[in-house]
Amino acid sequence: MKMNPESFVAMKGSKTIPMLTAYTCPVARSIEEAQVPVILVGDTVGMVEMGFDSTRDVTIEHMEYHIGAVRRGAKSTHIIGDLPYGTDVNPETAYTNARRLIQAGADSVKLEGPNIQVIQYLVKHNIPVVGHTGLLPQTAKNFKQVGQSSEDAKRIINEAQAIQKAGAFMVVLEHIPYSLAGKITKILSIPTIGIGAGPDCDGQVLVINDALGLGDYWPPFSKQYAYVSKTVLKVATEFSEEVRSMKFPSNIIQFTGTDRS
Ligand code: KIV
Repeated sequence: MKMNPESFVAMKGSKTIPMLTAYTCPVARSIEEAQVPVILVGDTVGMVEMGFDSTRDVTIEHMEYHIGAVRRGAKSTHIIGDLPYGTDVNPETAYTNARRLIQAGADSVKLEGPNIQVIQYLVKHNIPVVGHTGLLPQTAKNFKQVGQSSEDAKRIINEAQAIQKAGAFMVVLEHIPYSLAGKITKILSIPTIGIGAGPDCDGQVLVINDALGLGDYWPPFSKQYAYVSKTVLKVATEFSEEVRSMKFPSNIIQFTGTDRS
């Protein structure tokens, strides 16, 4: 059964929440089969799937395309759609773009930073919102951990509280000290979802390509549960050798299965 914002809030303090990103239909289908309750179609798609150097190159059209694909694969899973850079500059613009993501298949939207008026406006207009504080890839100068000084830690705590007060039902804490994430998790009544923020959050999110070992760089705080890039290399090498040596297709084994179409 598809989870809604209230059911995620109800999990706070009792069950930890696993979340994965997804960008394509077959991956989303497997994530749903694994009963992961929430998929984030993140603007990380720009870096891990589209080859851009920054998430700032991602457009609302890219997000609509990927959210549509993920929805077709995961019909019963809560999908969060990321509002890409520049699409939430004021409440009205954010509302128009959030509606586009919802129409494409998202159940809620995520936006980076303490964009309080925008969060309030979206929630008032019935769009469930996930906040995001700590490291903010859309505007960060680099991907180093933030919140190390007591001043910066205080700022992040204040941002998390303001995001909750504005009406968000969940908040992502990215790449901050573990103790700070634990402190925020205790203060807030909505679930915190950590990425590079340690074990004391209410849930954890991983970028699916990092978890799959798909790509050529994975952040140190991520975990590789497989090395899919190596499998792709092996398959491509074997296939090309077999075509060159005329081993594939074989004229002995005739295909008798069902056609895809
Ligand atoms: O875009 C994304 O995938 C994200 C996660 C890193 C939390 O925001």
